[in-house]
Amino acid sequence: MNEKILKALILPLAASLSDAMQVFEETGLRVVLICNTEGNLAGLATEGDVRRALLAGYGLISPIFPHANINPSVGRTNMAREDIIGMLSDRVHFLPVLDDHNIVHDVLFYDNRAMIPIATPLIGEKELRYVTNAVLSGWISSQGKYIGQFEEQFASFCGTKYAVTVSNGTVALHLALTALGIGPGDEVIIPALTFIATANAVRQCHAEPVFVDVNRDNWNIEHGLIEEAITPRTKAIIPVHLYGQPCDMDRIMTIAARHHLFIIEDAAEAHGAKYGGKCVGSFGDLGCFSFYGNKIITTGEGGMVVTNSPVLNEKLRLLRDHGMSRTRRYWHEVVGFNYRMTNLQAAIGVAQLERWDQIIASKDRIQQWYDSHIDYNHLETARSLPNSQAVCWLYTLMLKDDVDDKARDILLENMKSFNIDCRPVFYPIPAMPPYYLSNFEKKYPVSCWLSKRGISLPSSVDMVESDLKRTVTYLNDLINVLYNNNAAESLEVANWDVK
Ligand SMILES: Cc1ncc(COP(=O)(O)O)c(C=O)c1O
Repeated sequence: MNEKILKALILPLAASLSDAMQVFEETGLRVVLICNTEGNLAGLATEGDVRRALLAGYGLISPIFPHANINPSVGRTNMAREDIIGMLSDRVHFLPVLDDHNIVHDVLFYDNRAMIPIATPLIGEKELRYVTNAVLSGWISSQGKYIGQFEEQFASFCGTKYAVTVSNGTVALHLALTALGIGPGDEVIIPALTFIATANAVRQCHAEPVFVDVNRDNWNIEHGLIEEAITPRTKAIIPVHLYGQPCDMDRIMTIAARHHLFIIEDAAEAHGAKYGGKCVGSFGDLGCFSFYGNKIITTGEGGMVVTNSPVLNEKLRLLRDHGMSRTRRYWHEVVGFNYRMTNLQAAIGVAQLERWDQIIASKDRIQQWYDSHIDYNHLETARSLPNSQAVCWLYTLMLKDDVDDKARDILLENMKSFNIDCRPVFYPIPAMPPYYLSNFEKKYPVSCWLSKRGISLPSSVDMVESDLKRTVTYLNDLINVLYNNNAAESLEVANWDVK
């Protein structure tokens, strides 16, 4: 635990109920540690203890100590962290960790242990330092040194000439489409299986997304089906590198060249993934990234558009900032947007890029751990193209055919009940109300199959081995049960096949 927060939780023996309430409010935590002048733990009081004291008629200024637990469960600094975590339970929600002199060194919380989250960011001292610098500099909006620094470093990371920061990955796509002049009456080809933002960005330009089914092996747009979706109105293709898996860019680029179409890569989930040794995002006219909190590199919210074209670079910058002339202030050449990133976000981005080696090494470790411990009898993962190097955004797998259609949802429910936060794969876009197509199951069979059977496992950058173990133990056990008994009837499953 952060030292400052730990200090804030400690109260002297004479502290009042009101002092404790102030700590709860300031820290957002529901516990205080009462220590004597030597710093030894004398008692632990929770929000519940304070509430009970007040209900019993004690005033706000009465001392809290008589209401504290003077013999709480404690961990010891010489114990393994995993053993201390193991002491947390339904009944022990807060566990102070003490040294031999009973001085408090840490507190562990049941809530931390309870849920293994799907993907938490790795934000550390460096991010904090750079954000603090940005705050202290006074440049907290969209000017300041970190914006240019992040753009330069990200362009170099991707191997492109330019990178333009924006406020999120969705507007990155919208800005890219607008910069290419895509608008009413135009069609843009996208995979039927992706996050909704890919389709929404097209509609937000008043153009129409045209869906193409995905490939059964690597789950990305099936290049063999793209040409039959092209019409005289088609202007662009958006290949999406789903779950960090590179698309077949050689084939897609060839099709685009043959039909004079633009390519905008949606690399929101694939920072650092490579195809033929080159980073995804750098193949098309434009490449778009998201830095949402669960992404491989995060800025909280945020996005980036990369390009090698000086003309597009200028257009992106113009449109990002209200269409304002880059040489004449408050002279607006076109109708633009406010899609700017703040210097605070960029400060985090710079720190994240500087720890890229650590992030990717950890993602590889998670991938390898899952690969070698999951029982693949009834499961499969995406197969990378031979000349590509995927990144493990979220470790995602599919249930094989010989199981009930509802098995995936049962699996998710059960993992959730063990406090393991797993995610279903996206719904096919044409299955959902804004894009509904009545024959979607026939037209996009692979997207539908993957969508019903896919599950993403916790993949946080700092995931520890005990959490990986816990996840895989439950997963393997549940898969065995599911494939050996037809347990589907026991759970109500949402029916997504509706308009
Ligand atoms: C494939 C894909 N495209 C676009 C986006 C949109 O990014 P953002 O959430 O930053 O707007 C996401 C984000 O989750 C995504 O997964």
